[in-house]
Amino acid sequence: MVFSRKSAMLAALATAAVAQDFTLSPSTFVDAPTGINFSTWSTPGINGTGAFSFGFVLPEDALQKDATEYIGRLQCQSTNASVTGWCGIAHGGHMPSDLLLMAWPYQGHVYTSFRWVEDYFLPGQFGGDSGTNGTSAAFPAPILTILNSTVTPSNYEVVYRCQNCFAWQQGTYNETVHTALAPGDAESVLVLGYAQATKGPTNPACPGNSLNFGFHDNGYAQWGAPVNNATRASYAAWTKLATQAPNAGANATSASCQAKAVPSAAPSAPVARRFVEVEW
Ligand code: HEM
Repeated sequence: MVFSRKSAMLAALATAAVAQDFTLSPSTFVDAPTGINFSTWSTPGINGTGAFSFGFVLPEDALQKDATEYIGRLQCQSTNASVTGWCGIAHGGHMPSDLLLMAWPYQGHVYTSFRWVEDYFLPGQFGGDSGTNGTSAAFPAPILTILNSTVTPSNYEVVYRCQNCFAWQQGTYNETVHTALAPGDAESVLVLGYAQATKGPTNPACPGNSLNFGFHDNGYAQWGAPVNNATRASYAAWTKLATQAPNAGANATSASCQAKAVPSAAPSAPVARRFVEVEW
């Protein structure tokens, strides 16, 4: 996916959302623990399913100079304490070839993992088996640090700083997402995607290459988020709140986390496709 295709993609999206289950709507949400006023896209879901919220803020100069990072807030749904779910963000909007960030609750923590896949299969660990295939001087590996996280029986939430998350490399492939205004443009739009599943990973303690999980049956969509609604003068100060390493207590190198998760021969058929309408 290249970012310049965004206009065609957004036009297609506007016509594709015919019979929707959820409506993803823009708003501003103030996160009480951090005081960050996020530019937010959320849905309450319907009939007790699909509730989802994603907010983000960008460095103050993101319209003048391409941002390389953002602070995000993911709030996703659990059905109950055992059907915990997973959710994630596609930087650039597409599942294939984009930098994916996944989150899921486990033992009171919100675990996270960067993922990547070329097609609509189970995404493996970003960086390949060794986790190092996404690094070069021009494309440093993505870094996640946590500002705050909470887990309840009905939802899980993580506020995080995502550095090096708008440009990535995987093998010979690389992609850059731009936030700065292009010459002659009055606005800049960041294309994002989200996905949410009812069931959590089957081995939630293993955030590395063995992480095994199923299709996102609890909502997914792409949308365009205006950059000018998301730049914040306090961005640099808020980065200092990102003090926690992700995945407290995880041990991805333990013997039980060594068997690499193998995708099925063909992409899993979406068993419970949910239609999401996006309000612009
Ligand atoms: C076992 C894991 C997964 C499977 C089998 C899977 C499969 C699929 C399939 C078949 C579609 C296309 C659906 C359609 O045409 O309506 C899709 C779309 C999508 N997926 Fe996944 N997915 C998985 C994991 C993920 C993860 C981890 C993320 C993000 C963190 C993600 C994000 C998206 C997004 C944003 C879309 C819509 C945009 C697009 O079509 O590229 N998926 N997925």
